[in-house]
Amino acid sequence: MRSYFISMASIFVAAVSLLTCQSNTASRDAIDQRVDELLAKMTLEEKIGQMNQYNGFWDVTGPAPNEEQARKKYDHFKQGLVGSVLNVRGTAQVRKLQELVVKESRLGIPLIFGQDVIHGQETITPIPLAEAASWDLAAIEKSAQVAAAEAAAIGLNWTFAPMIDISRDPRWGRVMEGAGEDPYLGAKVAVARVKGFQGNDLSAPNTIAACAKHFAGYGFSEAGRDYNAVDIGTYTLHNVVLPPFKAAVDADVKTVMNSFNVLNGVPATGNKYLQRDILKGRWKFNGLIVSDWASIFEMIPHGHARDLKQAAELAIHAGNDMDMESYAYVQHLKSLVEEGKVSEEQVNDAVRRILRLKFELGLFDDPYRYCDSVREKSVLMQPDHLTAALDVARKSIVLLKNDRGFLPLNKAQKNIAVIGALAADKNSPLGNWRAGADENSAVSVLEGLQKYTLAIRYAKGADVVVGKPEFIRETAVNETDSSGFREAVALARQSDVVIMVLGEDGFLSGEGRSRTNLNLPGVQERLLKAVHRVNKNIILVLMNGRPLTINWANANIPAIVEAWQLGTRSGDAIAQVLFGDYNPSGKLPMTFPKSVGQIPLYYNHFNTGRPDPTGLVFWSHYIDETNEPLYPFGYGLSYSEFTYSDLKIDTTDRQAINVSCTVTNTGRVAGEEVAQLYIRDRVSSLVRPVKELKGFQKFTLEPGASQNVQFVLTDAELGFYDADGQWLVEPGEFDVMIGTSSVKGLVGRFSR
Ligand code: NOJ
Repeated sequence: MRSYFISMASIFVAAVSLLTCQSNTASRDAIDQRVDELLAKMTLEEKIGQMNQYNGFWDVTGPAPNEEQARKKYDHFKQGLVGSVLNVRGTAQVRKLQELVVKESRLGIPLIFGQDVIHGQETITPIPLAEAASWDLAAIEKSAQVAAAEAAAIGLNWTFAPMIDISRDPRWGRVMEGAGEDPYLGAKVAVARVKGFQGNDLSAPNTIAACAKHFAGYGFSEAGRDYNAVDIGTYTLHNVVLPPFKAAVDADVKTVMNSFNVLNGVPATGNKYLQRDILKGRWKFNGLIVSDWASIFEMIPHGHARDLKQAAELAIHAGNDMDMESYAYVQHLKSLVEEGKVSEEQVNDAVRRILRLKFELGLFDDPYRYCDSVREKSVLMQPDHLTAALDVARKSIVLLKNDRGFLPLNKAQKNIAVIGALAADKNSPLGNWRAGADENSAVSVLEGLQKYTLAIRYAKGADVVVGKPEFIRETAVNETDSSGFREAVALARQSDVVIMVLGEDGFLSGEGRSRTNLNLPGVQERLLKAVHRVNKNIILVLMNGRPLTINWANANIPAIVEAWQLGTRSGDAIAQVLFGDYNPSGKLPMTFPKSVGQIPLYYNHFNTGRPDPTGLVFWSHYIDETNEPLYPFGYGLSYSEFTYSDLKIDTTDRQAINVSCTVTNTGRVAGEEVAQLYIRDRVSSLVRPVKELKGFQKFTLEPGASQNVQFVLTDAELGFYDADGQWLVEPGEFDVMIGTSSVKGLVGRFSR
């Protein structure tokens, strides 16, 4: 009976998906037809206009235009010479500009409105690196859904997210925007975010087009300095950098943004191999590629293009469809076509991609469909958005240290000191790229704690270094001011427990915010030590946009909680973890080094020929630091304990090897665990990393309960890309590990 139902159900599912598939194809065909009809009416100039994207008139997220350029831009809107605009938001403003274009330009082709909606529009969810620490794909997808609903409600149709650059360098400020160092986790998170933004129907009032960025290699900038050159080998390109992009394309991401960096000698924006050969060719991506801000122009200082005209020529040949703020296409593409250096068919192909997206967004049916001012008010910061933001914020927290069950705090705990400027900060928890969030709109840690108890006294102790661009370097405040120490130390002396909230200002990470040291900024570590001298019962709550080097804290402080920048509900999430109403379940998506000198430090590295300390000197190591990280990838504690047992490897089906084990909650409280599976291909034609994540599962276990976790390893998990990016599967011996982090688990071996 059961199997009858199963087969009836699967026939039904198959029939529905066949119908959906047919209707998708039909609507795609209908759109293509409308695109061609419109294209036939367009002049060459109008076509090129569609490939031109301008910034709006106020917010700038790149170098600003001068006055003359701004005036010219305004006329271009009326002449139909702009296809899309960024940083114009709010239904009133969007409607105004849309009306200008629709009513005044000859063909009235509506604009697409884009913006960096990176982790929320007004309801801010954790920075993407933090969310990746949740390893909870449903929560991540939901977070993107919330962002999309709010962005669409204020007139936007396109977000420049997700950023899916893999990075191994926490000096690079933009690690806050990505999912960390691992391509497998990175690909899963990328797909969750794309699905969350785009939903199933792009024309729905609560979905927007996503943009996978930055294509490609941007996270590998030399020395972690933003915009710097990238020089990586083919193994890393195909096996580390590209897989999240491939996954996003397979998940139907509508747009891709290229990147500022030079990749192996050729700027990514002018890189034909990346864009035409791989993305549009091999992967059959049929969406649009937008340049990054002025990245076409930047091929001149890179030393790849002689002038803007040649830059335009190189960019379109390489496959770049839309020009963000370089003015290169709008100024030069027409003459390039007339001179025969660019074919009109190349222009047509780019324009088709752009128009297709406009049709899919429903903009031709109603250019003002995202301009409902009543909806705008009701959607922003809805209660269920705030609930989703709290849920993902709690899940993003990583418990780094908890000696002798120091945490959670007893709810009856009296006499608590809270120290650190970030504890009262309502702005920093919003992180960088906080779109339209109101200043100071986060719940601070202090406010979150006060919902539990009033037995709290607060002292600031010291400021954090403020990282807003205008302050950086020249006037960075409070590098040295320790005048608040005395009050903080006195308070700590009289208290039973001290919660110290230390870390980075909300603008110290993000674009253009590279650092050369990863210590707690300013005098915060000195403050920590001063307090520790009078009271050892310290809980350190870290608020930061990237891994930090906190060796002293790790050696001396009994409890450490990584709370990143968790968004609007930050303080509530942190308080719930500290008081045990939420049992932390996050795992690090990025290695924490002990020293900047170890960077790049990542778990999936290659072995060396001299990996073991067999002699005194001649093996691969440092003479002044160990090779090990402070906290490894995949690491994170819980108030529960999880025991792994009974590893089984079943190779009966060589195409689908079954690896399983039992995970038991041997602790006293219910908790969530992320079981992680790693493999190592022991011998291969191209050497393979010592470990590679190939599966994970997150689940809840009551105390004493067990769960059988199963993973299936197929060619998709066991193969790799060769130097040209072709998938290769070689027979051989594999090590496998299932465990609680990248360094702790049950190990086995199989051949196939
Ligand atoms: C430059 C950034 O690199 C990119 O990520 C962003 O989308 C654009 N500016 C637009 O703000």
